[in-house]
Amino acid sequence: MGTVWIGSIIYLNDKYPDVEWDWENINTKDMYFPKNFIWGTATAAHQVEGFNTNNNWYRWEHSFDQNGKSRIHNSDKSGDAADHWNLYKQDINLMKNIGVNAYRFSVEWSKIMPTINKIDQDAIDHYREVCIALIDSGLVPVVTLHHFTHPLWFEDLGGFEKEENIKYFLEFSELMFNELSDIVKYWCTINEPAVYVSQGYFNGVFPPGKKDPLLAGEVMKNLLYAHTEVYHLLKSLKNGDQSQIGLVKNITQFDPLRRWHVLDWYFSKILNDIFTNSTIDLLLNGEFRFYLPGMADLSYTNTKAIKALDFIGLNYYSRWHVKGHLNPNEPFTFEKRKQDIQTDMPYSIYPEGFYKALNTVSKLEMPIIVTENGIADDKDDRRKLFINRYLYALFQAMQDGLVVNGYFYWSLMDNFEWAEGYSMKFGLYEVDFSSQDRIFRDGSQAYKEIINRPAVDSRGYKVSIGDKAPNLELNMLDGTRINLSELLGQVVVLQFTASWCSVCIQEMPHLEKEVWLPFKDEGLMLIGIDRDEPLEVVKKFKKQTGITYPLALDPGANHFSKFAHKNAGVTRNIVIDKKGNIAFLTRLFDKGEFEAMKQKIKLLLKE
Ligand code: BGC
Repeated sequence: MGTVWIGSIIYLNDKYPDVEWDWENINTKDMYFPKNFIWGTATAAHQVEGFNTNNNWYRWEHSFDQNGKSRIHNSDKSGDAADHWNLYKQDINLMKNIGVNAYRFSVEWSKIMPTINKIDQDAIDHYREVCIALIDSGLVPVVTLHHFTHPLWFEDLGGFEKEENIKYFLEFSELMFNELSDIVKYWCTINEPAVYVSQGYFNGVFPPGKKDPLLAGEVMKNLLYAHTEVYHLLKSLKNGDQSQIGLVKNITQFDPLRRWHVLDWYFSKILNDIFTNSTIDLLLNGEFRFYLPGMADLSYTNTKAIKALDFIGLNYYSRWHVKGHLNPNEPFTFEKRKQDIQTDMPYSIYPEGFYKALNTVSKLEMPIIVTENGIADDKDDRRKLFINRYLYALFQAMQDGLVVNGYFYWSLMDNFEWAEGYSMKFGLYEVDFSSQDRIFRDGSQAYKEIINRPAVDSRGYKVSIGDKAPNLELNMLDGTRINLSELLGQVVVLQFTASWCSVCIQEMPHLEKEVWLPFKDEGLMLIGIDRDEPLEVVKKFKKQTGITYPLALDPGANHFSKFAHKNAGVTRNIVIDKKGNIAFLTRLFDKGEFEAMKQKIKLLLKE
């Protein structure tokens, strides 16, 4: 027994190491994102709009538990929330101020279909106006159809507990799609089925406040079935083929508190399986299993669910540490660790988990959109660190080749945080709920700063063809100085190189023979710029290659980083026309591209 125990522990620790990065030695400034990246903020109707008096959450906020206590922290009620319903135009300006290019929000079913057979056209028109206002401001609308709330009539029919009720959600989804899909391309069907289920049917802290593992499994199955049906239905409608429709999956990892304890490993696995793997398996293989030992075991097959999405939305916040017990009434508990930096929510800052979660959803081989990520931080003393580290984790995942198309920060502004009421401050903007004033938090600057950095293209370039070339003051190898502005009227080629770069060494004789020698007397200037090497090394390098065109120094790669990201590689030629505009960019030594560059130079010389 003992050996099996030890063997399993060794195996598990080896297979699932506890990933923790050495943040002291990571420079989170060193990250860059692609040019067409979707940057956004996210909200949900019930949390920000106000005046939702006809949905499951309204009833929940006004009900009491068996001890007569409010269900919501501090007895808060969503009430007028951030009055986003009326203030959306002003809020769009807040988004513009950050510099984002997209907004994820949800449409409130209970406002659109207040009773089972009534449609409120004014409510639909409102959402259309919101979308138009966003588009007019250069923001892409991303619409969520179900974000934890639905009409009371739907709740009273049994909500998602009953498969036969899914038809109502399909009706609502079809209605909204028909109304908005001419201007809305991105759709999220259901927000976080696993959170809806665990909080509403397992922990009992969200409506309907049940603690019924069997029913939890059933509701989870129904929600995923609803997603599948909605996906196929919307795809079959007008504009369906041009739309991007995805499911929003929250990943919270469950990790063993005691890495030497089999029970902690066991319950972590059970929880990861029901919370995350069951959904991934269904979307990947059509197989779903919801298994909680002694409490629930539900299996279901639906081949229509396989790849029933155009993107996977990932919501990631943190992980939980699990402690297993030999107590059937309380088989596990969640514990905090002293060494972790906590957020105001009962979980820690864990960017490594974000990186892992991105890898988990990448198994679906679908583009990923991070539909939520953010921190509750009332003191605003961890927000900056959170943003820098989580975005660094995102950057690392993208560097590894994961296809991530966008990131939405949760949340644009403080809002009604469900069972936690107004106590949790997730906003980039702080909201004073009595005056409805919004104030941009200091820590939120980090987000603004990162998303407004010059983006890079897939080759690591910050600049594009047509841009004005940045001005450089070059220190030449022979001790002279050249200012690029002095070269206006000539065609200039800047070649970024280094003595350790074999591709550069391969290319340099071609530059010498096919560019420098034939065109140097025709109005061309070619300057090699050696990236970050001392004078002596560069001198030797010049000798070895035998080139006769001039070389300049680039200590600290400061010149290089005006054109490309600092971490991107050398072997690049930047061709600048007579007016000082970038006309051609090469990367590595590709014969075809090199030829095209020569042709371009010839044309530019003639201009
Ligand atoms: C939900 C949001 C919520 C956020 C922060 C997500 O689970 O989609 O509605 O406010 O987490 O807790």
